[in-house]
Amino acid sequence: MAESKIKGGGQSLHMLKRCLAYFMRYKARLAVAILGMVVVAPCSAASAWLVKKAVDDVLINKDVVALKFVTVGIVVLMTAKGVFRFLQNYYMNTSGLLAINDLRNDLYARIVCLPMDYFNESQVGMLMSRVLNDVGLIRASLPSMVMFTREVFSVIGLAVYVFYLDWKLAFWGTLVLPAALYPFIYYSKRMRKLGRRTQSHVSDVSVRLQEGLSGIKVIKGFAKEKEEISRFRDENAKLVTSNNKQILASEQSSRVMETVGSFAAGLVLWYGGSRVIEGDLTTGALLSFLTALALLYEPIKRMNATNIDIQMALTGAERVFEIMDKADGITERGGSVEFTGPFRDIAFEDVTFSYSGANRPALDGVSLQVKAGERIAIVGSSGSGKTTLANMVPRFFDPQGGRILLNGRPLADYTLTSLRRSMGLVSQEAFLFNASVRENIAYGAVGGYSQEEVEAAAKAAYAHDFILELPEGYDTLVGERGVKLSGGQKQRLTIARAIMKNPPLLILDEATSALDTESERIVQLALENLMQHRTSLVIAHRLSTILTADLIVVVENGRIVDQGKHAKLLERCDIYRTLYEMQFGAAG
Ligand SMILES: Nc1ncnc2c1ncn2[C@@H]1O[C@H](COP(=O)(O)OP(=O)(O)OP(=O)(O)O)[C@@H](O)[C@H]1O
Ligand SMILES: [Mg+2]
Repeated sequence: MAESKIKGGGQSLHMLKRCLAYFMRYKARLAVAILGMVVVAPCSAASAWLVKKAVDDVLINKDVVALKFVTVGIVVLMTAKGVFRFLQNYYMNTSGLLAINDLRNDLYARIVCLPMDYFNESQVGMLMSRVLNDVGLIRASLPSMVMFTREVFSVIGLAVYVFYLDWKLAFWGTLVLPAALYPFIYYSKRMRKLGRRTQSHVSDVSVRLQEGLSGIKVIKGFAKEKEEISRFRDENAKLVTSNNKQILASEQSSRVMETVGSFAAGLVLWYGGSRVIEGDLTTGALLSFLTALALLYEPIKRMNATNIDIQMALTGAERVFEIMDKADGITERGGSVEFTGPFRDIAFEDVTFSYSGANRPALDGVSLQVKAGERIAIVGSSGSGKTTLANMVPRFFDPQGGRILLNGRPLADYTLTSLRRSMGLVSQEAFLFNASVRENIAYGAVGGYSQEEVEAAAKAAYAHDFILELPEGYDTLVGERGVKLSGGQKQRLTIARAIMKNPPLLILDEATSALDTESERIVQLALENLMQHRTSLVIAHRLSTILTADLIVVVENGRIVDQGKHAKLLERCDIYRTLYEMQFGAAG
C-alpha cells in the first residue's frame, strides 16, 4: 500500500539522538539506572576472579580462610549484583515508558495540527499504526544503547582481566574477534531492512482493519465478508512472512556469534591444554581463564542482541520522525491578528485552488462577496466545487491563486483559533463524538457552559424532545460517530452544536442524503433557527433555502457562472434552470 519510502543510512546517529532527547527528560531515573549499570559491570569481572580463588586456593591448596572469603564474597557479590541490576532495569524501563508516553503525545499533537491536505494523502490506519506500534519500538532505544554500553564495559573489563591472567592464552581467545565484526555489521543492516518492511506491513494490516471496521455496514450490505476476510488474510500473511524473516535473521546472527565464540574456546583449549600437559600452566589457571573467556562471550552475544533491538528502534524512529518532520514544514499556521468581530464581510477575489494530484482546478477564479446579515445559497451540480469553496473560509485549504479577505484583511492574517471560532460549520456528513449528547452539543463552547444553554440550543434545533426520550437524556452516549441515533437526529444535534457555538458566520453544507418528509421538515425548522440573525453561506440542497436566500450563486466546474435571485436566475441562466428542475423541481 502507498507508504512513502524512507531513506536509511547516515541518519541513524541523528535519529538516536532525537530518541535520547525524550529519555533525557527523566534524568534522575536514568542516573539511578546508570549507577546500577556501572556497579553491575565490574561484578562480572570480580566473579571470574573469585572462581580462580576458589579453584586454586580452596580446592587445590585447601585454604580454610580462602574458603570463608570466597563463600562470603560470592554471596555479597551476587546480592550487590542483584540489587544494582534491579535498579538498572527498573529505572531504565520506567524512563523508557515515560519517554514513549511523551513521544506518543507529541506525535498525536503533531498529527492533529497537520493541515487538511495531509489527511487527504494519508490513511488513518497508517497514522494509527505509527502512533501505536512504531512509537512502541523506540522504547527499546535507550535501554538497548545503555545495555550495549554496559556490555562494552564488561567486555573491556573481562578482556583486561584475561590478558592479565595470561596474555598468550588471551591472544588465542580473542584472535577470532575481528572475524565476528563482519556478521555483526551484516546482520545489523539486514535487521534494519526487515524491520522497515515489517513495520510497513503492520501499518498495512492496520489500514485494512480500520477500513474494514469503519465500512462494516457496506461489507455486510454487499455480503462481502468472505472477500474482506481474505484481503485481511493476505495482508496479514505478508506481515507473517516478514516477521518470519526477522526471527530467522535474529536467530542466525546469534548462532553465528556463538559459533565464532566456540572457535575461540577451541583455540584456547588446544593451546592452554597443551601447556597444562607440559606443566607450564595450572589447571586452576586454565579453568579460570576459560570461565573468564566464557563470561567474555556472554556480553558479546548480548551486544548482538541489543543491537537487534537498536535496529528495530531505529526503524520505529524513522517512521515516527518522518511525520514529526513533515509537521515542521507544513503545520497549520495562522497569523497574529485576533479576530474580535464584529463580522462585516468576507470576500473571495479571483480564488483558484487545485487538490494535489488533480488534473483540473476545483476552484477556478472565484470572486464572491458575503456581507453581514446576508444569506448566500450556493448551488451547482455534484462535483462542481461547492464544498471546496466552503472549505476555504475556515482555511482547511488555502487558495493557490487570488485571496480571501475577512473584514478587508487576508484570512491568513488572523490566528487560526480566532478565525475558526468566528464561524460555525455544519458539514455534509453529521459527525458526532462518542460522548454524551450534552458534550456533543457543547463541543464548541469556550470555557464553561450551563445545562440551560445546552437545552436552549437543543430546543432551537428541535432536538430537546427526542433527547429527553433517550435512555439517559442528555447523558446518553451517542456511540461512535453517533451510530445510536437516526440520520435526522444526528443532523439536529450538529445544528444544536452550531447554535451553541453562536458564531456570527455560518457555513452550512446541507446534507444530500434525503430524510423522510417529516424529519426533513424538522431539520429545516432547526436550520431556520440556526440561520436567523446570522450571516450564512449555505450549500443548498433544499428548495426552502434557495427561495429564502438573498443571493443564489451558481457554480459549475469550479467557476461562478451566474448569481442573482431565484426568479431572475430561472429566467436567464440555463444551468440554474436545469439544476432547479433536477434537484429542486420534484420537491417543489
Ligand atoms: N479531498 C479531495 N482531493 C482531491 N480532489 C477532491 C477532493 N475533494 C473534492 N475533490 C474534487 O474536487 C471537485 C469539487 O469537489 P467538491 O467536493 O467541492 O464538490 P461539491 O460541489 O461539493 O459536490 P457535491 O454536491 O457532490 O457535494 C470534484 O471534482 C472532486 O472530485
Ligand atoms: Mg459537497
